[in-house]
Amino acid sequence: MVSITTREDFVSIADQEEKISVQDMKKINITYKRKTEKTNHKIIFGDSAKVLKTFPDNTFQLMVTSPPYWNVRDYGHPSQIGLNDSLQEYLTKLKRVWKEVVRTLMPDGKIALNIGNIYYTEPDEKRRTTANLSYLLWKQLNDFKELRFMGTIYWRKTTSRSGAVLFGSYPYPSNFMISSAVEPIHIFRKIGKREVSQDIKEKSKISLKEFREFRDAIWDINGVNDKHAAAYPIDLPARFIKMFTFVGDLVLDPFVGSGTTIKASKDLNRNSVGIDINPGFLKIIEDKVGIKQKTLKNEHIFEILHLEENTGKLISK
Ligand SMILES: C[S@@+](CC[C@H](N)C(=O)[O-])C[C@H]1O[C@@H](n2cnc3c(N)ncnc32)[C@H](O)[C@@H]1O
Repeated sequence: MVSITTREDFVSIADQEEKISVQDMKKINITYKRKTEKTNHKIIFGDSAKVLKTFPDNTFQLMVTSPPYWNVRDYGHPSQIGLNDSLQEYLTKLKRVWKEVVRTLMPDGKIALNIGNIYYTEPDEKRRTTANLSYLLWKQLNDFKELRFMGTIYWRKTTSRSGAVLFGSYPYPSNFMISSAVEPIHIFRKIGKREVSQDIKEKSKISLKEFREFRDAIWDINGVNDKHAAAYPIDLPARFIKMFTFVGDLVLDPFVGSGTTIKASKDLNRNSVGIDINPGFLKIIEDKVGIKQKTLKNEHIFEILHLEENTGKLISK
């Protein structure tokens, strides 16, 4: 039985004390041991909001995720969010997750939320309407008093499908279907400050070329063909991890799917927690992240955990 109560769970070697303050003048000094030689990665199966309840406040430096779509994809689990929900139910369930994310995010922690719009058909119509999921989820986050909006990056999927589904009334006016192949990624920060030692800053430096590229509001990145139906390209979480975390930080993806965020965290020497409802994805995650590969120094520690519904505890089976 594993229960996570402190950040020490993720770390073993003390580098320095890290000071964190929140804006309401309550000073909290969180000292934690930063691990830079070995990284720890937890893959946890269970409902995201419930799993996050097992984590203490102020735990993660970054949440990067692409949540389930509303009404489009089947992720193969009866408790999945989105597939059989009304739009209102979908939004209510996601809001529960964001509440836990905001609580567990550290002061000055960042959120990168990738969500595209989708087409759907109203019951009494044959034509399609666009559900503005991007705006609705932005609004949910913007309503948290602890969060500040930093801007939106637009991911233009350069290899996205451009087939008949987008063609509307072609070749005639007047039913153009606006492409949904550009997906917004909304960035927020949690209020508060954080101090990081010069040594850790040096280890986390970004090149001038990348700094320029990342600042740009439009990112042209190819989509991916993956065993998981809705995986995002590794470049997406990798860029946000470089932009918003330092080596040894802890990254959260509450909808981890095929494990892309865990792989990016591992490659960039950050710790991670990835949660998904469907344990059937474990093999895909293992292959993508290279969990079973032994490295010379065994730099990465992986734990596979499951939420036990009746006790609310995390167990390793
Ligand atoms: C868009 S996919 C994420 C894909 C991921 N970014 C990747 O690169 O593979 C959304 C994921 O959310 C998961 N999901 C749906 N409902 C969930 C819930 N209640 N708790 C945790 N995960 C859930 C689905 O199983 C699916 O894998």
